[in-house]
Amino acid sequence: MVKLTGPDKRRTAVFISGAGSNLLSLIKFSKSKNSKILIKLIVSNNSKAKGLKYSKIYRIKKKIFNFKKTINEQKILQVLKKNKIDLICLAGFMKILSKNFIKNFNGIILNIHPSLLPKYKGLNTHKRALINKEKFTGCTVHFVNSKLDSGKIILQKKVRIFKNDTESKLSKRVLIQEHKIYPKAIKKLFL
Ligand code: GRF
Repeated sequence: MVKLTGPDKRRTAVFISGAGSNLLSLIKFSKSKNSKILIKLIVSNNSKAKGLKYSKIYRIKKKIFNFKKTINEQKILQVLKKNKIDLICLAGFMKILSKNFIKNFNGIILNIHPSLLPKYKGLNTHKRALINKEKFTGCTVHFVNSKLDSGKIILQKKVRIFKNDTESKLSKRVLIQEHKIYPKAIKKLFL
């Protein structure tokens, strides 16, 4: 993969909807030596997202938007511009960004998805993998384009599925790998 050059550290916004454990792993990574990101903003579509607590703990600005209203897109883009954000990391963000948003954001958008893409795009990935009696599942970090979970893959990690697995056991094991590969993918991407 060709490494992307650019500013010393990417000014990053992390978009979340829930627990924010991937956000936490990215915050920790951002504080590590030679990390290529500075997390400047946490964005959520959900004012009750548990992960918003990291805004206070780590003193990172947060913004909550209703993503249902297309009119808000312009506002979100303005906030990103004002904060000079050039990297968006979607991390458990449960809304689909519009084509218009993706086209008009002047930077890179990454996502983490809990499956071995191109398998199991969309929701309920672990449930579907279990129903299909897959032997492996995993997680993927990829670029975001206008098609759901279809952008170029940057990094993947396989996770074994055991006979007695449940959705909850499996999602916990995959999540542990997610926390590792998101920072790794960012390292891989930027010089
Ligand atoms: C992760 O499995 C992520 O890949 C998926 O939702 C989960 C969110 O976890 N889309 P968290 O909010 O980062 O803890």
